[in-house]
Amino acid sequence: MLIREIKPGVQWVGAVDWDRRLFDALIPLPKGTSYNSYLIRGSEKTALIDAVDATKAEVLLGNLQALGINKIDYIICQHAEQDHSGTVEHLAAQFPDARLLGTGKCLELLREFGLIPKEKGHEVKDGESIDLGGKTLQFIHAPWVHWPDTMFTYLPEDKILFTCDFLGSHLATSDLYAHDEAAVYGPAKRYYAEIMMPFRQHIQKHLAKIKGLQIDIIAPSHGPLYDRPEFILSAYRDWSSDAVKNEVVLPFVSMHGATRIMADYFVDALVARGITVKRFDLTNYDVGELAEALVDAATVVIGTPTILAGAHPLALYAAILANALRPKTRYASIIGSFGWGGKMLEQITVALPSLKLQLFDPVVAKGHPKEADFRALDRLADEILAKHRELKIA
Ligand code: FEO
Repeated sequence: MLIREIKPGVQWVGAVDWDRRLFDALIPLPKGTSYNSYLIRGSEKTALIDAVDATKAEVLLGNLQALGINKIDYIICQHAEQDHSGTVEHLAAQFPDARLLGTGKCLELLREFGLIPKEKGHEVKDGESIDLGGKTLQFIHAPWVHWPDTMFTYLPEDKILFTCDFLGSHLATSDLYAHDEAAVYGPAKRYYAEIMMPFRQHIQKHLAKIKGLQIDIIAPSHGPLYDRPEFILSAYRDWSSDAVKNEVVLPFVSMHGATRIMADYFVDALVARGITVKRFDLTNYDVGELAEALVDAATVVIGTPTILAGAHPLALYAAILANALRPKTRYASIIGSFGWGGKMLEQITVALPSLKLQLFDPVVAKGHPKEADFRALDRLADEILAKHRELKIA
Protein backbone atom coordinates (compact mmCIF):
# COMPACT_ATOMS: atom_id res chain seq x y z
CA MET A 1 0.00 0.00 0.00
CA LEU A 2 1.34 3.40 -0.98
CA ILE A 3 -0.64 6.59 -0.44
CA ARG A 4 0.87 10.06 -0.79
CA GLU A 5 -0.57 13.36 0.37
CA ILE A 6 -0.23 16.11 -2.21
CA LYS A 7 -2.30 18.73 -0.36
CA PRO A 8 -4.83 18.40 2.45
CA GLY A 9 -7.73 16.49 0.91
CA VAL A 10 -5.74 15.55 -2.22
CA GLN A 11 -3.99 12.19 -2.27
CA TRP A 12 -2.16 10.02 -4.77
CA VAL A 13 -3.71 6.56 -4.54
CA GLY A 14 -2.41 4.97 -7.75
CA ALA A 15 -0.04 2.12 -8.51
CA VAL A 16 3.63 2.00 -9.43
CA ASP A 17 4.34 -0.70 -12.00
CA TRP A 18 8.02 -1.36 -11.42
CA ASP A 19 8.17 -4.48 -13.58
CA ARG A 20 6.22 -3.62 -16.72
CA ARG A 21 8.55 -3.66 -19.70
CA LEU A 22 6.27 -3.22 -22.72
CA PHE A 23 3.33 -0.97 -23.56
CA ASP A 24 0.94 -1.32 -26.50
CA ALA A 25 2.96 -4.41 -27.47
CA LEU A 26 5.30 -1.84 -29.02
CA ILE A 27 6.90 0.60 -26.60
CA PRO A 28 9.68 -0.66 -24.33
CA LEU A 29 9.41 0.55 -20.73
CA PRO A 30 13.00 0.26 -19.48
CA LYS A 31 12.13 2.11 -16.28
CA GLY A 32 8.61 0.75 -15.70
CA THR A 33 5.71 3.15 -15.28
CA SER A 34 3.00 4.24 -12.89
CA TYR A 35 -0.75 4.69 -13.16
CA ASN A 36 -1.56 7.78 -11.13
CA SER A 37 -4.95 7.97 -9.53
CA TYR A 38 -5.97 10.90 -7.34
CA LEU A 39 -8.50 11.07 -4.53
CA ILE A 40 -10.00 14.53 -3.90
CA ARG A 41 -12.05 15.01 -0.78
CA GLY A 42 -14.14 18.15 -0.31
CA SER A 43 -16.24 18.94 2.72
CA GLU A 44 -19.26 17.37 1.03
CA LYS A 45 -18.19 15.07 -1.74
CA THR A 46 -15.38 12.81 -2.83
CA ALA A 47 -14.00 12.29 -6.33
CA LEU A 48 -11.46 9.95 -7.83
CA ILE A 49 -9.54 11.18 -10.88
CA ASP A 50 -8.59 8.31 -13.15
CA ALA A 51 -8.24 4.66 -12.25
CA VAL A 52 -5.34 2.31 -12.92
CA ASP A 53 -4.47 -0.54 -15.25
CA ALA A 54 -6.59 -3.65 -14.67
CA THR A 55 -3.49 -5.55 -13.53
CA LYS A 56 -3.27 -3.16 -10.55
CA ALA A 57 -6.94 -3.16 -9.52
CA GLU A 58 -6.17 -4.62 -6.12
CA VAL A 59 -3.61 -1.89 -5.44
CA LEU A 60 -6.08 0.93 -6.09
CA LEU A 61 -8.93 -0.75 -4.24
CA GLY A 62 -6.56 -1.58 -1.38
CA ASN A 63 -5.46 2.05 -1.12
CA LEU A 64 -9.07 3.24 -0.99
CA GLN A 65 -9.88 0.61 1.62
CA ALA A 66 -6.87 1.60 3.72
CA LEU A 67 -8.16 5.17 3.71
CA GLY A 68 -11.58 3.94 4.85
CA ILE A 69 -13.30 5.24 1.72
CA ASN A 70 -16.77 3.75 1.59
CA LYS A 71 -18.36 6.33 -0.67
CA ILE A 72 -17.15 7.96 -3.86
CA ASP A 73 -19.45 10.50 -5.46
CA TYR A 74 -17.62 10.96 -8.74
CA ILE A 75 -15.29 8.80 -10.75
CA ILE A 76 -13.64 11.12 -13.23
CA CYS A 77 -12.40 9.37 -16.30
CA GLN A 78 -10.08 11.75 -18.11
CA HIS A 79 -9.23 9.24 -20.85
CA ALA A 80 -10.62 5.88 -21.91
CA GLU A 81 -7.36 4.04 -22.59
CA GLN A 82 -7.28 0.89 -20.53
CA ASP A 83 -4.20 1.76 -18.46
CA HIS A 84 -6.43 4.35 -16.75
CA SER A 85 -9.89 2.95 -17.28
CA GLY A 86 -9.19 -0.75 -16.87
CA THR A 87 -10.32 -0.61 -13.26
CA VAL A 88 -13.51 1.38 -13.81
CA GLU A 89 -15.60 -1.78 -13.72
CA HIS A 90 -14.13 -2.73 -10.34
CA LEU A 91 -14.76 0.77 -9.00
CA ALA A 92 -18.34 0.77 -10.30
CA ALA A 93 -18.93 -2.52 -8.51
CA GLN A 94 -17.38 -1.27 -5.28
CA PHE A 95 -19.02 2.18 -5.42
CA PRO A 96 -22.31 1.63 -7.30
CA ASP A 97 -23.68 5.10 -6.52
CA ALA A 98 -20.68 6.94 -7.94
CA ARG A 99 -21.36 9.06 -11.04
CA LEU A 100 -18.87 8.43 -13.78
CA LEU A 101 -17.86 11.64 -15.56
CA GLY A 102 -16.00 12.03 -18.83
CA THR A 103 -16.14 13.68 -22.22
CA GLY A 104 -18.77 12.35 -24.60
CA LYS A 105 -16.06 10.64 -26.63
CA CYS A 106 -14.54 9.07 -23.53
CA LEU A 107 -17.88 7.64 -22.44
CA GLU A 108 -18.54 6.35 -25.94
CA LEU A 109 -15.18 4.55 -25.97
CA LEU A 110 -15.68 3.10 -22.48
CA ARG A 111 -18.98 1.63 -23.69
CA GLU A 112 -17.39 0.33 -26.89
CA PHE A 113 -14.65 -1.35 -24.86
CA GLY A 114 -17.29 -2.99 -22.67
CA LEU A 115 -15.97 -1.22 -19.56
CA ILE A 116 -19.25 0.46 -18.65
CA PRO A 117 -22.88 -0.36 -19.54
CA LYS A 118 -24.59 2.01 -21.95
CA GLU A 119 -26.74 3.64 -19.30
CA LYS A 120 -23.67 4.52 -17.17
CA GLY A 121 -21.72 7.76 -17.50
CA HIS A 122 -22.42 11.48 -17.48
CA GLU A 123 -20.90 13.74 -20.09
CA VAL A 124 -19.10 16.89 -18.94
CA LYS A 125 -18.61 19.84 -21.26
CA ASP A 126 -15.49 21.87 -21.75
CA GLY A 127 -15.32 24.44 -18.94
CA GLU A 128 -17.93 22.70 -16.78
CA SER A 129 -17.11 22.28 -13.09
CA ILE A 130 -18.33 20.44 -10.03
CA ASP A 131 -18.12 21.52 -6.40
CA LEU A 132 -17.00 18.99 -3.81
CA GLY A 133 -17.28 21.52 -0.98
CA GLY A 134 -14.26 23.78 -0.84
CA LYS A 135 -12.71 21.94 -3.74
CA THR A 136 -13.80 22.68 -7.28
CA LEU A 137 -12.99 20.48 -10.24
CA GLN A 138 -12.99 22.27 -13.60
CA PHE A 139 -12.89 20.17 -16.75
CA ILE A 140 -10.82 21.23 -19.72
CA HIS A 141 -11.32 19.27 -22.91
CA ALA A 142 -8.04 18.34 -24.54
CA PRO A 143 -8.73 16.13 -27.54
CA TRP A 144 -5.84 14.40 -29.29
CA VAL A 145 -3.55 14.02 -26.36
CA HIS A 146 -3.17 11.36 -27.91
CA TRP A 147 -6.76 10.09 -28.26
CA PRO A 148 -9.85 12.14 -29.17
CA ASP A 149 -11.43 11.72 -25.74
CA THR A 150 -9.06 13.30 -23.27
CA MET A 151 -9.70 16.07 -20.76
CA PHE A 152 -7.69 17.74 -18.02
CA THR A 153 -9.04 18.61 -14.57
CA TYR A 154 -8.10 21.80 -12.73
CA LEU A 155 -8.41 22.21 -8.97
CA PRO A 156 -8.18 25.98 -8.46
CA GLU A 157 -8.19 25.99 -4.65
CA ASP A 158 -4.91 24.04 -4.66
CA LYS A 159 -3.70 25.20 -8.09
CA ILE A 160 -3.27 21.62 -9.27
CA LEU A 161 -3.72 20.65 -12.91
CA PHE A 162 -4.39 16.96 -13.54
CA THR A 163 -3.21 16.38 -17.09
CA CYS A 164 -3.81 12.69 -17.76
CA ASP A 165 -1.20 11.38 -20.26
CA PHE A 166 -0.12 14.93 -21.17
CA LEU A 167 3.24 15.88 -19.59
CA GLY A 168 3.68 12.39 -18.13
CA SER A 169 6.51 9.89 -18.24
CA HIS A 170 6.88 6.14 -18.14
CA LEU A 171 8.98 6.12 -15.01
CA ALA A 172 8.54 3.98 -11.92
CA THR A 173 10.03 5.91 -9.02
CA SER A 174 9.62 6.28 -5.29
CA ASP A 175 9.69 10.06 -5.75
CA LEU A 176 6.28 11.71 -5.72
CA TYR A 177 7.73 14.78 -7.44
CA ALA A 178 10.25 15.18 -10.24
CA HIS A 179 12.90 16.71 -8.01
CA ASP A 180 15.72 14.97 -9.84
CA GLU A 181 14.86 16.73 -13.08
CA ALA A 182 17.89 15.36 -14.93
CA ALA A 183 16.61 11.83 -14.25
CA VAL A 184 13.08 12.66 -15.38
CA TYR A 185 13.92 14.65 -18.51
CA GLY A 186 14.91 11.60 -20.60
CA PRO A 187 11.88 9.44 -19.76
CA ALA A 188 9.56 12.43 -20.24
CA LYS A 189 11.08 13.20 -23.65
CA ARG A 190 10.91 9.57 -24.70
CA TYR A 191 7.26 9.46 -23.60
CA TYR A 192 6.53 12.63 -25.56
CA ALA A 193 8.16 11.08 -28.63
CA GLU A 194 6.25 7.82 -28.42
CA ILE A 195 2.84 9.15 -27.47
CA MET A 196 2.51 12.87 -28.12
CA MET A 197 4.75 13.70 -31.07
CA PRO A 198 2.26 12.65 -33.78
CA PHE A 199 -0.12 15.24 -32.30
CA ARG A 200 2.39 18.08 -32.06
CA GLN A 201 0.01 20.78 -33.35
CA HIS A 202 -2.59 19.77 -30.75
CA ILE A 203 0.08 19.77 -28.06
CA GLN A 204 0.89 23.38 -28.93
CA LYS A 205 -2.81 24.28 -28.63
CA HIS A 206 -3.13 22.57 -25.27
CA LEU A 207 -0.07 24.38 -23.95
CA ALA A 208 -1.70 27.65 -25.02
CA LYS A 209 -5.05 26.65 -23.49
CA ILE A 210 -3.61 26.08 -20.01
CA LYS A 211 -1.30 29.11 -20.16
CA GLY A 212 -3.66 31.36 -18.21
CA LEU A 213 -4.08 28.94 -15.31
CA GLN A 214 -2.25 29.44 -12.06
CA ILE A 215 -0.50 26.11 -11.62
CA ASP A 216 1.57 25.10 -8.61
CA ILE A 217 1.49 21.37 -9.31
CA ILE A 218 1.08 19.37 -12.49
CA ALA A 219 -0.27 15.90 -11.77
CA PRO A 220 -0.06 13.62 -14.82
CA SER A 221 -1.33 10.06 -15.01
CA HIS A 222 2.11 8.49 -15.47
CA GLY A 223 5.37 9.16 -13.68
CA PRO A 224 6.20 11.75 -11.03
CA LEU A 225 4.31 15.00 -10.46
CA TYR A 226 5.87 18.39 -11.05
CA ASP A 227 5.91 21.00 -8.30
CA ARG A 228 8.07 23.13 -10.55
CA PRO A 229 5.74 23.10 -13.57
CA GLU A 230 7.99 25.26 -15.71
CA PHE A 231 10.45 22.36 -16.03
CA ILE A 232 8.06 20.19 -18.02
CA LEU A 233 6.13 23.03 -19.68
CA SER A 234 9.30 24.56 -21.12
CA ALA A 235 10.47 21.12 -22.27
CA TYR A 236 7.15 20.55 -24.06
CA ARG A 237 7.32 24.01 -25.65
CA ASP A 238 10.77 23.11 -26.98
CA TRP A 239 9.89 19.61 -28.21
CA SER A 240 6.61 20.63 -29.83
CA SER A 241 7.98 23.82 -31.42
CA ASP A 242 8.76 23.99 -35.12
CA ALA A 243 12.48 24.41 -34.39
CA VAL A 244 14.78 21.57 -35.41
CA LYS A 245 18.36 20.94 -34.33
CA ASN A 246 21.60 20.38 -36.21
CA GLU A 247 21.20 16.62 -35.94
CA VAL A 248 20.99 13.64 -38.25
CA VAL A 249 19.29 10.43 -37.15
CA LEU A 250 20.80 7.43 -38.93
CA PRO A 251 18.94 4.14 -38.49
CA PHE A 252 20.64 1.48 -40.60
CA VAL A 253 20.96 -2.24 -41.07
CA SER A 254 23.70 -4.15 -42.84
CA MET A 255 23.85 -7.79 -43.97
CA HIS A 256 27.38 -8.33 -45.27
CA GLY A 257 29.03 -5.09 -44.17
CA ALA A 258 28.65 -2.77 -47.18
CA THR A 259 25.92 -0.58 -45.67
CA ARG A 260 27.74 -0.55 -42.32
CA ILE A 261 30.93 0.73 -43.98
CA MET A 262 28.89 3.46 -45.65
CA ALA A 263 27.07 4.31 -42.43
CA ASP A 264 30.30 4.58 -40.46
CA TYR A 265 31.96 6.69 -43.17
CA PHE A 266 28.88 8.91 -43.28
CA VAL A 267 28.84 9.38 -39.51
CA ASP A 268 32.44 10.61 -39.64
CA ALA A 269 31.67 12.90 -42.58
CA LEU A 270 28.76 14.50 -40.74
CA VAL A 271 30.63 14.87 -37.46
CA ALA A 272 33.54 16.48 -39.33
CA ARG A 273 31.04 19.08 -40.56
CA GLY A 274 29.87 19.83 -37.03
CA ILE A 275 26.62 17.87 -37.24
CA THR A 276 25.44 15.71 -34.33
CA VAL A 277 24.66 12.15 -35.40
CA LYS A 278 22.40 9.65 -33.64
CA ARG A 279 23.27 6.25 -35.08
CA PHE A 280 21.07 3.18 -34.62
CA ASP A 281 22.02 -0.33 -35.71
CA LEU A 282 18.53 -1.70 -36.37
CA THR A 283 19.52 -5.23 -35.40
CA ASN A 284 20.05 -4.05 -31.82
CA TYR A 285 18.26 -0.90 -30.78
CA ASP A 286 15.52 0.47 -28.58
CA VAL A 287 12.43 1.79 -30.34
CA GLY A 288 11.99 4.44 -27.65
CA GLU A 289 15.52 5.78 -28.10
CA LEU A 290 14.99 6.06 -31.83
CA ALA A 291 11.67 7.86 -31.27
CA GLU A 292 13.35 10.23 -28.80
CA ALA A 293 16.13 11.00 -31.28
CA LEU A 294 13.52 11.96 -33.88
CA VAL A 295 12.05 14.70 -31.65
CA ASP A 296 14.65 17.32 -32.60
CA ALA A 297 16.58 16.15 -35.66
CA ALA A 298 16.50 18.22 -38.83
CA THR A 299 17.40 15.22 -40.99
CA VAL A 300 16.93 11.48 -41.06
CA VAL A 301 18.96 9.15 -43.28
CA ILE A 302 17.97 5.51 -43.50
CA GLY A 303 20.59 2.91 -44.36
CA THR A 304 19.59 -0.40 -45.91
CA PRO A 305 20.92 -3.17 -48.09
CA THR A 306 18.74 -4.85 -50.70
CA ILE A 307 17.21 -8.19 -49.85
CA LEU A 308 14.47 -10.18 -51.56
CA ALA A 309 14.27 -7.48 -54.23
CA GLY A 310 13.59 -4.68 -51.75
CA ALA A 311 14.58 -2.83 -48.60
CA HIS A 312 15.59 -4.81 -45.54
CA PRO A 313 12.42 -5.27 -43.43
CA LEU A 314 14.13 -3.72 -40.39
CA ALA A 315 14.81 -0.54 -42.36
CA LEU A 316 11.27 -0.55 -43.69
CA TYR A 317 9.97 -0.94 -40.15
CA ALA A 318 12.03 2.07 -39.02
CA ALA A 319 10.59 4.11 -41.91
CA ILE A 320 7.03 3.06 -41.04
CA LEU A 321 7.67 3.92 -37.39
CA ALA A 322 9.11 7.35 -38.24
CA ASN A 323 6.13 7.99 -40.50
CA ALA A 324 3.70 7.08 -37.70
CA LEU A 325 5.51 9.26 -35.15
CA ARG A 326 5.44 12.25 -37.51
CA PRO A 327 8.48 14.13 -36.22
CA LYS A 328 9.22 17.65 -37.41
CA THR A 329 12.19 16.37 -39.44
CA ARG A 330 12.70 18.46 -42.60
CA TYR A 331 15.09 16.43 -44.75
CA ALA A 332 15.73 12.78 -45.52
CA SER A 333 17.80 10.50 -47.66
CA ILE A 334 18.70 6.85 -48.10
CA ILE A 335 22.08 5.18 -48.22
CA GLY A 336 22.78 1.52 -48.85
CA SER A 337 23.78 -1.14 -51.28
CA PHE A 338 22.47 -3.63 -53.79
CA GLY A 339 23.80 -6.64 -55.68
CA TRP A 340 21.77 -6.79 -58.88
CA GLY A 341 18.68 -4.60 -58.45
CA GLY A 342 15.44 -4.20 -56.55
CA LYS A 343 12.90 -1.68 -55.32
CA MET A 344 14.62 -0.69 -52.10
CA LEU A 345 14.48 3.08 -52.71
CA GLU A 346 10.82 3.13 -53.75
CA GLN A 347 9.78 1.04 -50.76
CA ILE A 348 11.46 3.33 -48.22
CA THR A 349 10.22 6.49 -49.92
CA VAL A 350 6.57 5.42 -50.09
CA ALA A 351 6.71 4.39 -46.42
CA LEU A 352 7.08 8.06 -45.41
CA PRO A 353 3.92 9.77 -46.77
CA SER A 354 3.04 11.64 -43.56
CA LEU A 355 6.33 13.48 -43.30
CA LYS A 356 6.77 16.76 -45.12
CA LEU A 357 10.28 15.95 -46.21
CA GLN A 358 12.68 17.25 -48.76
CA LEU A 359 14.56 14.24 -50.09
CA PHE A 360 18.23 14.38 -50.98
CA ASP A 361 19.47 12.09 -53.72
CA PRO A 362 20.22 8.67 -52.22
CA VAL A 363 23.67 7.09 -52.23
CA VAL A 364 23.47 3.44 -53.21
CA ALA A 365 26.57 1.33 -53.84
CA LYS A 366 26.69 -1.73 -56.09
CA GLY A 367 28.31 -4.29 -53.86
CA HIS A 368 30.86 -2.86 -51.44
CA PRO A 369 31.27 0.92 -51.56
CA LYS A 370 33.99 2.28 -53.81
CA GLU A 371 35.72 5.62 -54.09
CA ALA A 372 32.85 7.17 -56.05
CA ASP A 373 30.39 6.08 -53.35
CA PHE A 374 32.46 7.70 -50.60
CA ARG A 375 32.61 10.93 -52.62
CA ALA A 376 28.82 10.73 -52.99
CA LEU A 377 28.49 10.37 -49.22
CA ASP A 378 30.71 13.46 -48.82
CA ARG A 379 28.41 15.35 -51.19
CA LEU A 380 25.35 14.23 -49.24
CA ALA A 381 26.95 15.43 -46.01
CA ASP A 382 27.71 18.78 -47.71
CA GLU A 383 24.11 19.11 -48.88
CA ILE A 384 22.81 18.39 -45.39
CA LEU A 385 25.18 20.94 -43.88
CA ALA A 386 24.10 23.56 -46.43
CA LYS A 387 20.42 23.00 -45.60
CA HIS A 388 21.08 23.10 -41.88
CA ARG A 389 22.93 26.37 -42.39
CA GLU A 390 19.93 27.76 -44.28
CA LEU A 391 17.90 26.99 -41.19
CA LYS A 392 20.62 28.72 -39.11
CA ILE A 393 21.04 25.66 -36.94
CA ALA A 394 24.55 24.68 -38.13
FE1 FEO B 1 -1.77 6.34 -20.33
FE2 FEO B 1 -3.29 6.98 -23.30
O1 FEO B 1 -3.04 6.14 -21.67
